[in-house]
Amino acid sequence: MPPKHQRPYLPFGDLKTAPWYGKNILSVGQFGRSDLEYCFSVAHEMRIMVERVGTFDLLKGKILANLFYEPSTRTQASFMAAMQRLGGAVIPISEVHYSSVAKGESLPDTVRTLGCYADVIVIRHPEVGSAALAAQHAQKPVINAGDGVGEHPTQALLDTFTIREELRRLDNLNVTMLGDLKFGRTVHSLARLLARFSGIRLNYVSPEELGMPRDVMDEVSAGKIPQRVETRLDDVLPETDVLYVTRVQKERFEKAADYEKVKDAYVITAETMKAARKDMIVMHPLPRVNEISMDFDSDPRAAYFRQMEYGLYVRMALLAMVLGKA
Ligand code: CP
Repeated sequence: MPPKHQRPYLPFGDLKTAPWYGKNILSVGQFGRSDLEYCFSVAHEMRIMVERVGTFDLLKGKILANLFYEPSTRTQASFMAAMQRLGGAVIPISEVHYSSVAKGESLPDTVRTLGCYADVIVIRHPEVGSAALAAQHAQKPVINAGDGVGEHPTQALLDTFTIREELRRLDNLNVTMLGDLKFGRTVHSLARLLARFSGIRLNYVSPEELGMPRDVMDEVSAGKIPQRVETRLDDVLPETDVLYVTRVQKERFEKAADYEKVKDAYVITAETMKAARKDMIVMHPLPRVNEISMDFDSDPRAAYFRQMEYGLYVRMALLAMVLGKA
């Protein structure tokens, strides 16, 4: 038996009847407000446990298959770290070209295979709907780590958790999303999640050709959330509580010339941020290219590096939830 300070305490337990046990996590649409509060309370406990003991054995004996068909640093590494901090093990498949995918194996067969070895499968794939397809064929829970321009639900969860931990509230916020709102899947999922809360105002600032898709705006407006579309950041920055900056997604453009035209449409610098409030935060899912200048990194409002750490706690919570340990 480990010493008492290394033993998990409530709310962690072996609760096979836990609401998320055995479930896939494919879309933010699965998360109502009470699910979010539950997930964030578990993530907060994970944060305390990591700060207190670093690694503990909540998922000892469990195995994660980390299947990445697209590049990733944060999502891939944080899921691996999450499983290892919970005492579990990981099968990393990030170079699919060295797996049987290179021989033409289908996604259904690949996840069926991994389901024989692992207890949970995390997947990133360039095609919209690929995580749902994987879930249809896997005999183990599947977690969507990004399906093309579709969704990236665990990023939206960690983004929302970041706001909660940094600003101590999720209601009554003025949130400005900036940059590539067309291809940036994180902002689609985040807008949908924030629509669950009250007093939210969303501002979308982008070049006209990279605006927030109509279907996302329609879904958000069903929640009676005011939405404002702008091309100039100056018009909304002074009243912003959360500035969520996104990278222009070069890999999603068909023509290089179209990318070149918009790639540096907005650059956040220390100078730009003089117009913003002192108690607001700046977030970014990362990686960044030029859209946030390094001269802003040391500003306390720059929350984007802390945001990556919050991702670890949220992914620990999600793994514990689907494996029946939260
Ligand atoms: N934010 C994010 O998904 O980063 P990676 O592409 O590095 O995983």
